[in-house]
Amino acid sequence: MSYTFTKSSELFQRAQKSIAGGVNSGIRKMELPVPVYFERGSGPSLWDVDGNHYLDFQLGQGALLYGHAPEGMAEAIAAQAKLGCHWAAQSKLEIEVAERLQAMVPSAELVRFNNCATEVVMAAFRLARAHTGRPYILRFEGHYHGWSDEGTVSASTPQRLWGADSENPPSYHQSQGVIPAVPEQFIVARWNDPEHLRRRVDQFRGKIAAIIFEPIGCNTSCIEPIPGLLETIRELCDRDGMLMIADETITGFRFGASCAQGYLGFKPDITVFGKAIGGGTPFAALVGTRAAMTKITSGEVMHAGTLNGNPLCLAASKWCLDKIISLGNTHPASIQKLGCKLMNGLANLGRENDIPLLPQGPGIAFQTMMLKPGAADGPARDYRDHVLRHDQPRWAHLRRCLLEEGVRAIERGLWSISLTHSEADIDEALRRAATAFKRHAGMWNAARSAINAKATA
Ligand SMILES: Cc1ncc(COP(=O)(O)O)c(C=O)c1O
Repeated sequence: MSYTFTKSSELFQRAQKSIAGGVNSGIRKMELPVPVYFERGSGPSLWDVDGNHYLDFQLGQGALLYGHAPEGMAEAIAAQAKLGCHWAAQSKLEIEVAERLQAMVPSAELVRFNNCATEVVMAAFRLARAHTGRPYILRFEGHYHGWSDEGTVSASTPQRLWGADSENPPSYHQSQGVIPAVPEQFIVARWNDPEHLRRRVDQFRGKIAAIIFEPIGCNTSCIEPIPGLLETIRELCDRDGMLMIADETITGFRFGASCAQGYLGFKPDITVFGKAIGGGTPFAALVGTRAAMTKITSGEVMHAGTLNGNPLCLAASKWCLDKIISLGNTHPASIQKLGCKLMNGLANLGRENDIPLLPQGPGIAFQTMMLKPGAADGPARDYRDHVLRHDQPRWAHLRRCLLEEGVRAIERGLWSISLTHSEADIDEALRRAATAFKRHAGMWNAARSAINAKATA
């Protein structure tokens, strides 16, 4: 019997009278059949206001690497709350967290804290421009770096704007109200094409302050870098004095204690951390080599924030980092094993039900790409390849069926595994998914016609 969402629907109706659009982050509106209202979480499980139970692979957009309400974290936060929630001043805790980062991540020679990764990215861009005295940042199409005027440029450029010249991807921001000059400060390149990247850098040589990237493109199809790509970025940055900025907001600590930079073997100048560094609390960090952080150290680059180094978040982060350290080299191997099992199980269910589902990624996180009718098989190579072959309406329908059977993935198709998921949870998720896949397969042709009819009406 699939889930119903009566109370969530009622709350969403009510929310729209007091909360603009009914949600507090635009993407949450994508959840079908209705944005779900939750009451409680524990480990890999979530319960909503209608009493429905979910095995959660959305995990707070990836922040909950340690699962929901992990034992010990609430106690750490509560103990700190009794001593004070906020000082806007120094604490021993902030040094303890910074020292843990130094010990875990070789490129983290110096650290500054913020409240979310969007802020950290803004700081990293400012720092890079000041460090080099150059105006431009090079970024990759389909990589997301937060919701600011600077962060979202070309994260999801619509196909109609690609133009005929794939050598010059346009700078595009999806939001109205952006300062018009901001997107113009970005040089956009295609991911996974080192020769194209070289040409793009040469085109603007001497004017680029930094290259920013998601080491694994988790915001578009969980696309891994092809061999040689990260080496090319490092080489070009060293050659031209640009800063290499790794945005590890999703990959940080998920890919092991030394993060994706340890997992993939590269050393950036600056790294952005968010999400798992705070385990669900509003916490983020800008880290970098001593040389790259010079202008913040000297105060020539402004970096500020009333809530920076907030003790509640620091207490949570210290608990999270200690958890990762305690796992030694069992992390990320254990979540990767579970993730690969889930990926294979979902791929099998796709085959059994004639659904063109293509899970891709390293398992620690992965994407369920849904192929359009007639699209070529094989993993997506870059953003445009993903857009051309991924059937978003069909994935949204399958995602809804999964949700109705109690399996929850990120709306756009990304799945994450937590340290609290077990083999039994993966088996149970696949049992539930089997029902969801059957329902989707039975309903999809009619659902597609209805979606098409609505689009043309
Ligand atoms: C790679 C990346 N960078 C930056 C951000 C912005 O993080 P936040 O929403 O916590 O500000 C995100 C958010 O999803 C992200 O995925």
